[in-house]
Amino acid sequence: MDKGYTASITGVGSFLPEKVLTNDDFTRMLDTSDEWITKRTGIKERRVVENGATASDLAIEASLRALDDANILPSEIDLIVAATITPDCLVPSTACFVQEKIGAKNAGAFDLLAACSGFVYALSIARSFIASGAMKTVLIVGTECLSKITDYTDRSTCILFGDGAGAVVVQRGNGKKEIVTTYLGSDGSQADLLKLPAGGSKLPASQATIESRSHYIQLKGKELFKTAINNMVDMITKAATDNNMQVEDFDMIIPHQSNIRIIEAAMERLKQPKKKAYINIDRYGNTSAASIPIAIDEIDKGELLNPGDSVLLVAFGGGLTWGTSLIKW
Ligand code: UT7
Repeated sequence: MDKGYTASITGVGSFLPEKVLTNDDFTRMLDTSDEWITKRTGIKERRVVENGATASDLAIEASLRALDDANILPSEIDLIVAATITPDCLVPSTACFVQEKIGAKNAGAFDLLAACSGFVYALSIARSFIASGAMKTVLIVGTECLSKITDYTDRSTCILFGDGAGAVVVQRGNGKKEIVTTYLGSDGSQADLLKLPAGGSKLPASQATIESRSHYIQLKGKELFKTAINNMVDMITKAATDNNMQVEDFDMIIPHQSNIRIIEAAMERLKQPKKKAYINIDRYGNTSAASIPIAIDEIDKGELLNPGDSVLLVAFGGGLTWGTSLIKW
C-alpha cells in the first residue's frame, strides 16, 4: 500500500464482564469434565454478561478506557468501527450505540463483520484512513457477547466461547506502536465450517428456525482445527517474507485465541518457542473479534514488550477470513 502518514496505536482499553463461567460449571450442565476441556482447548474459564448486557455495553467501557489511555476527547474521533458478530441488533449498528454513549459527535460509525478476524480487518481500515490523510483519529473496538449465540446444549462448542471487548485508538504515527503492515484474506468456499444460519435474509426467524436451534453458532470443529493450524503457519511465514524478516525476528506473536493446541502446533511447525505466542485463552476462552485487542491491552498494561519490538497479530475465523498486522511497539 502507498504510504502517506504512518499510523500508531495511541490508546488501548478492554472490558471483561465480572461473571466467570468455569469448566466445573459446565460439568453441572453437560456430560463433560474440566480435564477434557483443559486438555483439548486450554480453556479453564470464560466471562459472560449478566442482566441483559449487550455488545455495545462492553464496547462502551473498553472504548472509554482506550480514549482515556490516548488522552483524547470523544469529539476528536473521526470514525468508529465496531468489529462484532454479536451486534446489539442488525440495525442500527453497534458502532452507532457506542458513538452516542461516548459522545463522539464528529464521528462516522459502522460495524464490521469478519468473525474472529474482525479486529485485524478493522485495524487495516483504521491504518488506511490515517495513512491516506483522510482521518486523524479512528476508534476501533472488537466486542462480543458470544454467550447470546451459544448453544449451551452442544458440549463441543459451548465450552469454547466467552464475552468481552477490547478497543484501540489509531492516530497519525508518533513513533510508538506503529501499524507497519496489514494483510487480509478470505475463502468463502469454506463458509460452512463456522456459521450462524438463521436470522438473516436466507433464513429469517421463524418457529422452524427456533426449533432447529439455527440461531446459535455452529462449527465443524475438527475441519476448522486443521485449517486453522495450516493457515496460521502460512500467514506468519508470509508476514515475515512480506516484511523482509525471518519468523524468529518477531519478538511476540499475538494470535486470535481459538484453541491453545492450534497455537502451540503452529509454533512447533514454525520451530518457534511456545512462549513467543501470547496466551490468555485459559481465562477468557474464545472471544472472537475481542480476543486480540484484549490481549494487546494486557500486554500494554503489563509492560510485556519493549519499544521497537516487532509484534505480529494473527487472526483466523469464520468466513473463512484471516489476517495479520505487524506492529512496531
Ligand atoms: O475461532 C474460530 C476458529 N475456531 C476454531 O478453530 C475451533 C477449532 N476446533 C477446536 O478447537 C476443536 O475441534 C474442538 C475443541 C471444538 C473439539 O476438539 P476435538 O479434539 O476436535 O474433539 P472432537 O470434536 O474430535 O471430539 C472428540 C471426542 C468426541 O467423542 P467420540 O466421538 O470420540 O466418542 C466428542 O463427542 O470428544 C467428545 N467431546 C467432548 N467430550 C467431553 C466433544 N466435546 C466434548 C466435551 N466434553 N465438551
